[in-house]
Amino acid sequence: MPLVIAIDGPAAAGKGTLARRLAAAFALPYLDTGLLYRAVGRRVLDAGADPADATAAAEAAARLQPADLARDDLRGPAADAAASAVAAHPAVRAALLAFQRDFATARGAVLDGRDIGTVVFPEAPVKLFVTASEAARAARRWREQASQQDASAASLAAVQAAMAARDAQDAARATAPLRPAADALWLDTTTLDADAAFATAMAMVRAKLA
Ligand code: DC
Repeated sequence: MPLVIAIDGPAAAGKGTLARRLAAAFALPYLDTGLLYRAVGRRVLDAGADPADATAAAEAAARLQPADLARDDLRGPAADAAASAVAAHPAVRAALLAFQRDFATARGAVLDGRDIGTVVFPEAPVKLFVTASEAARAARRWREQASQQDASAASLAAVQAAMAARDAQDAARATAPLRPAADALWLDTTTLDADAAFATAMAMVRAKLA
């Protein structure tokens, strides 16, 4: 099996930026698995259904097309909430599992998400659990949204509350909850910028592979 690096952690911990840079450094394909759940959530909303409806969500997952992942409306508060809601349904997770595994078969991959090290690739040789304090993560997400000059952008407190609710929902679900694998290496990015997080992660990955 070619190299798989599994990266899990709560919202806005810096997983995506880190995963992309690790993928480039190791010349591996990168998959943002959150996008899959976001795209399913969007399809459910488009159909006028409720993301909490297991049947509607399972149908949307079964119909997912590659073009759904390229949509420009997969970010933002509504997409966040819909993704977390559809991700709680076992049938949705089952429908997305083969795609995630197949993605890494030929050339290996860096994947980021919530259950990569526990469910999707429990045998991955390198697993990182990337986290940061809730306040630091909320501040990052809030700055991101504020920089998009959206007049309807939420307050920092509202961003933090929505993020905490989403993390709680992702961690509390029965199927493939957000949690670190027993053999995951922890990386706390609270006081690290993107360069420092990358340098620390590179050292951890190299030590693990040595
Ligand atoms: O990583 P993200 O914030 O884009 O993920 C959006 C939602 O998708 C997240 O709240 C929970 C769900 N998700 C999941 O359940 N499992 C994954 N591997 C990735 C994301």
